[in-house]
Amino acid sequence: MNDYTPRREDQFSFGLWTVGWQGVDVFGPASRAPLDPVEATERLAELGAAAVTFHDDDLVPDDATRARTLERFREALDATGLGVEMVTTNLFGHPVFKEGAFTANNRSVRRLALAKALRNLDLAAELGAKTFVLWGGREGAEHGAGKAVHAALDRYAEGLNALCAYALEQGYDIRFAIEPKPNEPRGDILLPTIGHALAFIGNLAHPEMVGLNPEVGHEEMAGLNFAHGLSQALWHDKLFHVDLNGQHGPRFDQDLRFGAGNLRGAFWTVDTLEGGAGPRYGGYRHFDFKPPRAEASDGVWESARACMRNYLVLKERAAAFRADPAVAEALAAAEVPELSTPTVAGGETLADVRAASYDLDALAMRSTGQERLDQLALEHLMGVR
Ligand code: GCO
Ligand code: MN
Ligand code: MN
Repeated sequence: MNDYTPRREDQFSFGLWTVGWQGVDVFGPASRAPLDPVEATERLAELGAAAVTFHDDDLVPDDATRARTLERFREALDATGLGVEMVTTNLFGHPVFKEGAFTANNRSVRRLALAKALRNLDLAAELGAKTFVLWGGREGAEHGAGKAVHAALDRYAEGLNALCAYALEQGYDIRFAIEPKPNEPRGDILLPTIGHALAFIGNLAHPEMVGLNPEVGHEEMAGLNFAHGLSQALWHDKLFHVDLNGQHGPRFDQDLRFGAGNLRGAFWTVDTLEGGAGPRYGGYRHFDFKPPRAEASDGVWESARACMRNYLVLKERAAAFRADPAVAEALAAAEVPELSTPTVAGGETLADVRAASYDLDALAMRSTGQERLDQLALEHLMGVR
């Protein structure tokens, strides 16, 4: 019997800002005490995580304490065996970024953003991170004419191109991952979805160095199917990283623990990441959630533990679904395997396709078997098969 205990090979990782979130929101101040990054690292290691991630400001908010903090943090990494798999830059918290960072109208702000990201890229390389995430929380607008989107995208691309060129010049083994989000904190954020970001990457100077860090809640805020988005990112070879959490439909960004919110979506998310019907995702299973403000410190660790446990439970449920002979039959009945057969066979011409005869009545009346197949998935998810 699987006890769902996370192991290092499960490749679970957490942002320091997740368990470290103090509960500050628009309506009230912190409800929890600050959490020392060293304690966060130790506790996450005990719970079974393999790595941590951070924004520059989560770990080294000021220059006076930077060297000492990094020393203590490195000691904690050595002692626990945890790695730093991803680093990201806070280009949204400080009021200088209130109107954008790489896409701010103000040129000095854009240069400052670039300088901050470059400094943090050096730190990421030093700590051995392989992924550098870019979440443009303030790259957007609440108004119309105030943001010239065409020029903003030029500047966004300029920023990314500069980071790629610098990484190449320094010989850093790091790839960049854009994290889309439709809104919050800005009314409308640039590169709002997986699809927008994928299209943007194609126009960069080094598209091979840039991929995606999609987040469950962000796609669901836009009413989109996260598993489908993951599949498309995998199809483009662009799933460089992932932010797992939970969300209840289109509303504010809830950042619930993974498995909370849209549980059915979480099942298909895990099935997709584990290669249920396509290539398996080989990277870290990274949790980007916020322990609810109502929780005290016990709830923080309980929610972190639950993210990993829920992933492992769903991984087992998805594997059971894929291994069930009744599912194989239902897949065949639904003609799912047939989708892998090219529409036009080798050697055939389009004239052959046009000349063929089609039995419209039979095709229109055929069974598609989707309900049977989906019910089997639901029963595996509910644990009754
Ligand atoms: C959000 C975002 C952020 C980013 C993180 C990385 O909830 O809006 O997910 O948490 O992932 O800041 O830069
Ligand atoms: Mn989020
Ligand atoms: Mn995120």
